[in-house]
Amino acid sequence: MYFFKNFTVLVAITLYNVRCDGVTDVVNESTTPLPDLNETNSIETSTSSEIETVKVEVYYESLCPYCERFFVNKLEPVVQSMHQYLDIKLYPFGNADIIEEDDHYRFRCQHGKLECYGNKLHACAIDILKNVTKSTLFNCCLFEFFSDDESVDECATRMKLNGDPIKECAKGSKGNELLKYYGDETNKIYFRGVPHIRLNGIPYRNSSKKIFKDYVCAAFKNPPPPCNTVSTTSASTDE
Ligand SMILES: *[C@@H]1O[C@H](CO)[C@@H](O)[C@H](O)[C@H]1NC(C)=O
Ligand SMILES: *[C@@H]1O[C@H](CO)[C@@H](O)[C@H](O)[C@H]1NC(C)=O
Ligand SMILES: *[C@@H]1O[C@H](CO)[C@@H](O)[C@H](O)[C@H]1NC(C)=O
Repeated sequence: MYFFKNFTVLVAITLYNVRCDGVTDVVNESTTPLPDLNETNSIETSTSSEIETVKVEVYYESLCPYCERFFVNKLEPVVQSMHQYLDIKLYPFGNADIIEEDDHYRFRCQHGKLECYGNKLHACAIDILKNVTKSTLFNCCLFEFFSDDESVDECATRMKLNGDPIKECAKGSKGNELLKYYGDETNKIYFRGVPHIRLNGIPYRNSSKKIFKDYVCAAFKNPPPPCNTVSTTSASTDE
């Protein structure tokens, strides 16, 4: 995770420098390229350091009932109330297996083929909506239904977006590719049951009395304003 993030920043900076070098070469006499570079860099650092975010990682699979409860009852209200303070990463793979065959991959999912397809819909939503808040809320919505094509239609209508590319993606090679990616990421860590949730890298264990939002808020050094409002989420009684 951190690797990818830093890697992205590094690539961005590298590309920028390459581009700037090019500019410098062309307009050798000009003094404009340097201030440009400085301005860009300072904007990058200020946006990434000003707002404290808590990293929320969720390893899950589309047809597990505990996952459904977590997304609908816990994750969604927290995302609604404080998405700008969260760095969410969803891994829709769970306890599935990757089966390598000659030149392609297949997947075996805990709750069967429908779950593999559901996982792909979740993965494709993340890829296609290109906004983690939006895709997380979309996937929360999918959990209210059955994470199938009809659910995509329902949730697309509700959220006023086009669900067709998500279904197409899940049926094609892109869906396979994404699921393989999430499988590889999931296999890097160890966990027993799903959903497996980490807050700033620390596994979250639900206790029946505490509210998920309280755990999230406790993970901030300086809890943001939404943490000061009284939680309206009902206390969780998962067991
Ligand atoms: C960027 O700005 C800082 C402070 O404003 C200055 O010290 C530094 O020399 C600048 N760097 C470049 C490459 O212009
Ligand atoms: C909550 O606890 C139950 C029972 O131990 C467990 O099965 C479930 O996966 C947990 N849910 C979350 C979100 O951790
Ligand atoms: C992402 O989606 C959320 C919720 O729809 C919205 O508030 C936010 O502005 C979007 N972010 C970007 C960068 O478009």
